[in-house]
Amino acid sequence: MELTAELKDRIKQWNEELKETDALGVVGFFLNHFGERVVLSTSLGVEDQVLTEMVVRQDRGTEIFTLDTGRLFPETYDLIARTNKHFGIRIKTYFPDYRKVEEMVARHGINLFYESVENRKMCCGIRKVAQLPRAFEGKEAWICGLRKDQSVNRFFNRLVEWDPNNGLIRINPLISWSEKQVWDYVKKHHIPYNMLHDSGFPSIGCEPCTRAVETGEDPRAGRWWWENEGPKECGLHKR
Ligand code: ADX
Ligand code: SF4
Repeated sequence: MELTAELKDRIKQWNEELKETDALGVVGFFLNHFGERVVLSTSLGVEDQVLTEMVVRQDRGTEIFTLDTGRLFPETYDLIARTNKHFGIRIKTYFPDYRKVEEMVARHGINLFYESVENRKMCCGIRKVAQLPRAFEGKEAWICGLRKDQSVNRFFNRLVEWDPNNGLIRINPLISWSEKQVWDYVKKHHIPYNMLHDSGFPSIGCEPCTRAVETGEDPRAGRWWWENEGPKECGLHKR
């Protein structure tokens, strides 16, 4: 999609109109507005589990997808299965192009990401970002679990915003939620969550690229922890 002046105004208007609406209402509004043209992307993180519940409750036909990099934690695969069973859904799984992965591994090694930021971005690019066009085919908007609290880079994200990388509208219903709100919701609605969250993993990505954090440490400190420069983003949300 193209960002026209009209769409820009529309996005501005939505942010204004929906600022008092709760997250469930925001999700419902956009499911209704976009129908089959909206999709929920889930990394199976706790925010995405909240959104999955909100989506399924209001329209169980909405597409929900995850990018399976092939390097996820066993606990995450277990959660995919538990989530599908709990909600009676089938999260759509996108795998990377095996030729690209084989070529990358042959040239740079299986754990290339530890060697440089460039390698790490290549791996995230091939294993995740490159599959987005397939997941977004025919879509106009995607719902995702960004929260301002997660990192300074996310401070400027809005409830509804234009995503120039994918040419889509991005909806962040939990943008102003605190971590406590997320957990209260999960407990209240008995939503399944990743067991790793109970062992000091607030933010979970691929297994080789995520470690536990100490109390008081930044919640994203365990993601690509060996990198000390630049924003810790995989490219799905680059600004
Ligand atoms: S990341 O950029 O560091 O990987 P993060 O884990 O915080 O992102 O997730 C933010 C949002 O991006 C999630 O709520 C989800 O919508 C989307 N996302 C991240 N990883 C994936 C994935 N593997 N598959 C689908 N969506 C994802
Ligand atoms: Fe590769 Fe790590 Fe990115 Fe996963 S998080 S795609 S293993 S670099």
